[in-house]
Amino acid sequence: MNLLEAESVSKTYGSGETQVQALKNVSFCVSKGEFVAVIGESGSGKSTLLNMLGALDVPTSGKVYIDGRDVFAMKERELTIFRRRNIGFIFQAFNLIPELTVEQNMMFPVLLDYQKPDRGYLEELLRELNLTKRRKHLPGELSGGQQQRVAIGRALLTRPALILADEPTGNLDSQNSREVIGMLKRASRTYEQTIIMITHNGSIAQCADRILRVSDGVLKDYGSVRDIREAVARQNEKQAAGMPVGATAVGETGGRYEKGGR
Ligand SMILES: Nc1ncnc2c1ncn2[C@@H]1O[C@H](COP(=O)(O)OP(=O)(O)OP(=O)(O)O)[C@@H](O)[C@H]1O
Ligand SMILES: [Mg+2]
Repeated sequence: MNLLEAESVSKTYGSGETQVQALKNVSFCVSKGEFVAVIGESGSGKSTLLNMLGALDVPTSGKVYIDGRDVFAMKERELTIFRRRNIGFIFQAFNLIPELTVEQNMMFPVLLDYQKPDRGYLEELLRELNLTKRRKHLPGELSGGQQQRVAIGRALLTRPALILADEPTGNLDSQNSREVIGMLKRASRTYEQTIIMITHNGSIAQCADRILRVSDGVLKDYGSVRDIREAVARQNEKQAAGMPVGATAVGETGGRYEKGGR
């Protein structure tokens, strides 16, 4: 089942000479519980894509469906509630509330929705994010990496169907990066949460199920990480056997733009 579908999404910023075509006819589907990494050079359109998927900004043309709902057909208020209940955002700028402590920041979206926070899960997240000792601290008293982990905890606590993450490990050392990626992976496996994560780090991208690449506003599906690994292994075997290596470069292992299951 597809949790997310993007249909010919285009985004143009500005007009005249300063016009930038940040996204060009981007179409793809993501299944429920799938963990997708988005890679691409700086300025290629990755954050723009995430903003459109999370309905934080309106595309110039095209549609986005989340759980079968046409998000840009919703009224403002309906969309705000839908977003709060279904999407968790982890951004480069963490958007923490300076007056609230670590745990209050994490619980904030739940309280905003008049729901009761899952205390057990909160404790688990604080522990896994290595924040238990900092739970009563304010964001201003935390390091960049700690603030980033609070933002991750806040996105996970509501167990949203879709998590959109823009470089969630950008400020973390390798140990904390591994833990955060492990948590996202568990969220996708255990709770069938769908994750779309931008990263500049190739080895982190390989932890996902599938890799998409944005290049100058155009999206290319590199296919499943497992297929990429198998293709690379086959090439290495051929090379080791002294056979000529075919043209099966990464990225030619099969795109999956079609609708339908995994
Ligand atoms: N609000 C805006 N107004 C005008 N142009 C914009 C705006 N936001 C982004 N752009 C332009 O759109 C293009 C894509 O930007 P985007 O932020 O999506 O890139 P990115 O792939 O996320 O880059 P990075 O890896 O550096 O974060 C860039 O050329 C950028 O200058
Ligand atoms: Mg960006």
